[in-house]
Amino acid sequence: MRILITGADGRLGSELARVLTAQQHTVTGIDIGTVDITDREGVSGAFATASPDLVIHCAALTAVDFCAEHPDEALRINGYGTQVVAQACLRHGAALAYISTNEVFDGQQCRPRLEYDAPRPTNPYGYSKWVGEQVVRDLVSRHYIIRTSWLFAHGGHNFVHAVLQRAREGQPLRVVVNEVSSPTYAHDLAAAIAQLVATDSYGIYHLVNEGYASRWQFARQALDQAGFGAVLIEPIALTEFARTSRPPQYAILRNTAAARLGITLRPWPEALTAFLEAEGLRAR
Ligand SMILES: NC(=O)c1ccc[n+]([C@@H]2O[C@H](COP(=O)([O-])OP(=O)(O)OC[C@H]3O[C@@H](n4cnc5c(N)ncnc54)[C@H](OP(=O)(O)O)[C@@H]3O)[C@@H](O)[C@H]2O)c1
Repeated sequence: MRILITGADGRLGSELARVLTAQQHTVTGIDIGTVDITDREGVSGAFATASPDLVIHCAALTAVDFCAEHPDEALRINGYGTQVVAQACLRHGAALAYISTNEVFDGQQCRPRLEYDAPRPTNPYGYSKWVGEQVVRDLVSRHYIIRTSWLFAHGGHNFVHAVLQRAREGQPLRVVVNEVSSPTYAHDLAAAIAQLVATDSYGIYHLVNEGYASRWQFARQALDQAGFGAVLIEPIALTEFARTSRPPQYAILRNTAAARLGITLRPWPEALTAFLEAEGLRAR
C-alpha cells in the first residue's frame, strides 16, 4: 500500500513509519517542518506526490495544557487541520485512519469505555479531537477512528522519563492517584495499527495496552522496574496537581472491536518492561 503519515516526526508517527516501511509499504511522512496540515495547498501537494491509498493522520496539537490556554488554536489544528486532510482523502479516494484520544470521554464513570460509548469531552484538547472525529466520520466513508491513551515512546519526553529523571536527581515525587487510564507503548500501538489497516474493517477502535492504572501506579511500576523500588511517591489528588488542562478521571479505553479481529496489545506492565529494556533503563 502507498501510505501517507501526518505527524510522522512525532512519537507515534515515527514508530508507524518504521513498522510500515519494514512491512514493504511505500511510506511518505509529512510533519510541520514540511507540510502544515492547515495549509490546503500544501496538503494537496503532498497528496499529489504520495498518491496514498491510505492516510494515517497522527498530526495534532497534543500539548494539552497549551490547548487549554489556546482553545482556538487547538480547534484550528485538530479540527480544521483534520478537515483539510479529510477533504484531500475524499478528493483522492484514500482511506483515512484518524488517531484520537481517551480524552474525548468525560471520565465520570468508573468503568472502561467501549468504542460505541458517546463521547463527552470536558477540556479543549478532548473537544478539538472529538471535532476531528466528527469531520472524519462526515467526510470519509472508508475511515478508522483509533482512540488510544497515555503513550510512552522512544525519543523525546514522556511521563516515564520524567518520573525516572526526578528519582535519579533525588527530587520529591508527588503523583496523582485518581486519574486512571491505560498506559500504551507507541511501538505496540504502531504494530496493532498496521494489523488493523490491513483488514479494511473500517470503524471505531480502542487500541491500548491491556489493563489500566492510576498515574501513581504507572509511576510506581516504572520506578520498581528501573531499580528505584526504595523511592517513595506521595499520592495526591487530581485537584492538588496544578495544571491548566483538567484531564478526565477514569477515561479507560476497552478494546472490544479490534479484539474481535484478533488484534490485542499485551498488558501494559509487560510493554513497560520492553520499553525500559530497549532504553537500557531496566534494572537487572
Ligand atoms: N501522546 C499521547 O499520550 C496520546 C494519547 C492519545 C492520543 N494521542 C493522539 O495520537 C496522535 C499522535 O500523538 P503523538 O504523541 O505521537 O503526538 P506528537 O509526538 O505531538 O506528534 C504530533 C506531530 O504533529 C506535528 N504537528 C503539530 N501541528 C501540526 C500541523 N499544523 N501540521 C503538521 N504537523 C503538525 C507535531 O509537531 P510539533 O511537535 O512541532 O508540534 C508533531 O511532530 C495525536 O493525534 C494525538 O492526539 C496521543
